[in-house]
Amino acid sequence: MERVFSDQLGGWKRSCYCGEPRSDAVGRELILTGWVHTRRDHGGLIFVDLRDRSGIAQIVFNPEVDAEAHEKAKQLRSEDVMAVRGVLSRRPPETLNPDLATGEVELMGNELRLLNASHVPPFLIENETDANENTRLKYRYLDLRRPRSLSHLLLRYRMTKLIRDHLDGRGFIEVETPILTKSTPEGARDYLVPSRIYHGKFYALPQSPQLFKQILMVGGLDRYFQIVKCFRDEDLRADRQPEFTQLDMEMSFAQPDDVVDVVEGLIAALFKELKGIELKRPFQSVTWEEAMNRFGSDKPDLRFGLELKDFTEALRNSQFKVFSTVIQKGGVVKGICIPKGDELSRKDLDDMTPFVATFGAKGVAWTKITAEGWQSPIAKFLSEAERTEIEKIAGAHVGDVVLFSADTTEVVHEALGHLRLHLGEKLGLIPENAYALVWIMDFPLMEYDAEEKRYVAMHHPFTAPRDEDLSLLDTEPAKVRSKAYDLALNGTEVGGGSIRIHQVELQRKILALMGIGTEEAEAKFGFFLEALGFGAPPHGGIAFGIDRLAMLFSGAKSLRDVIAFPKSQRAVCLLTDAPSTVDASQLRELGIRNKVAE
Ligand code: AMO
Ligand code: AMP
Repeated sequence: MERVFSDQLGGWKRSCYCGEPRSDAVGRELILTGWVHTRRDHGGLIFVDLRDRSGIAQIVFNPEVDAEAHEKAKQLRSEDVMAVRGVLSRRPPETLNPDLATGEVELMGNELRLLNASHVPPFLIENETDANENTRLKYRYLDLRRPRSLSHLLLRYRMTKLIRDHLDGRGFIEVETPILTKSTPEGARDYLVPSRIYHGKFYALPQSPQLFKQILMVGGLDRYFQIVKCFRDEDLRADRQPEFTQLDMEMSFAQPDDVVDVVEGLIAALFKELKGIELKRPFQSVTWEEAMNRFGSDKPDLRFGLELKDFTEALRNSQFKVFSTVIQKGGVVKGICIPKGDELSRKDLDDMTPFVATFGAKGVAWTKITAEGWQSPIAKFLSEAERTEIEKIAGAHVGDVVLFSADTTEVVHEALGHLRLHLGEKLGLIPENAYALVWIMDFPLMEYDAEEKRYVAMHHPFTAPRDEDLSLLDTEPAKVRSKAYDLALNGTEVGGGSIRIHQVELQRKILALMGIGTEEAEAKFGFFLEALGFGAPPHGGIAFGIDRLAMLFSGAKSLRDVIAFPKSQRAVCLLTDAPSTVDASQLRELGIRNKVAE
């Protein structure tokens, strides 16, 4: 029999969503619409699980109730779209399904309208699907039919709605800023858009609305926010997308405390509403220096211990040259004490060396602390006094393992910081459903970039130095601390911002220190420097990664899971196949020659 399609609902109105009928509606006639999740033919009866965004309803087609509807139901295939009319009835006791919200009822179908057919879907529309991610992204509309995908988008929507309501209640005004704009120096590569009218000239897509939001403060807006797309052409990772969404904020006449206060109120509200968790305020806070020293990271995961310990002084004059030579050259020896680490095998310990090698470290030395003393390849090189001192610094007891890394401070922090995270995971030290928020304050203003042979801004060049460090600007710029702050959640940087420079002289000076001369500054942000000169108020702000927050709140593994149409790991939109070639005529209009095609 040919499949007959109804091209419309024909006057039918949906009574409710599939996930809604309950036993109190038994006996009522309902019209449901949705997708065929499954169809089971049990001889006489046909059972169809009908799905929409709210859930699943079981429809029963009985030839004795309606022969025509039953005949049509035989032809249903997975993911066909249909509408059905029927009478809701209570399921026989043996067929109750406690796993389903609608599991006490079923609809006895007496009329079926097939609205559209579906190809055989390339994967099952289930939370636990076996499809690989690229297939899911190519057929993202099918992927979005999975309840888990929908729940991620729903959480994200609730998050942005809460943010808007919360900030609205505190005097923040949402303002849109341009997407076709000029390059902003956030440190990544720009996405460029060629101008048709001015050949050879380009717009840049914003890496953030940084300069516009500051100019809004000059414009007297006082409190601004925006939920806004940002674009950065950088190497992708699980927590980075080329286009991502920020909650961007700026406040006039604000000190770091004021920004921290507003942000903590907002984040606490999100946790309360979305997770039912009451956060303790104020949040923990560490200086950047402390974060690096104790955790080897500027976004420390505080859900577990394994802090870095400094053995440098204990080993300064050691006979063990691997360590003392490094120290004499200005390096450090630091380590990690793993409580009850003696359960680690020799192989586990030896595998740490290749692990840290990827971060530039030469090796990891280790010792087991046993009742008989040190059991370690390096025990014989260290004096009794040195070993005792190390145990004391490490807080080590019998049964523990102490690890060592000797190198420059930067390499040791990088290596041990990553090793700490790796061990935390491997040893199961990270509690589930725990959320550790921490502010990282007082970042250095700039760092020396050996490749570019100049100082570069640690946050961005509009960040204000701390007042007490101003005098160091001329003598030791690398020692100047800034009024920048980040917020980390479970080891991910979720937000970052700063109090800004609001006086043009200081701004010019900082730009000059970073090797951006007057001419370049004029060309790149002359408009902004000019604006500062018209009574810019003191101001500061912060921006949060909405995708990252949504990922952490929903427990998703990747940013891609909380973005409706994300780019793949290779920066491709697998659904639309962007980026793609364009017509030669389009390029001609733009005054661009495609060397690849020639
Ligand atoms: P920053 O560069 O620290 O600051 O960015 C703010 C936050 O945006 C998120 N984020 C990203 N999320 C996904 N993919 C990316 N590629 C990506 N890059 C950044 C992070 C980060 O904490 N204008 C300043 C803010 C300010 O000073 O007020 C800025 O953009 O969660
Ligand atoms: P070696 O004398 O090179 O065999 O090293 C002795 C032990 O020290 C080995 O376990 C190495 O992995 C370790 N080791 C070597 N260099 C370093 C270093 N820079 N930091 C920490 N451990 C190291």
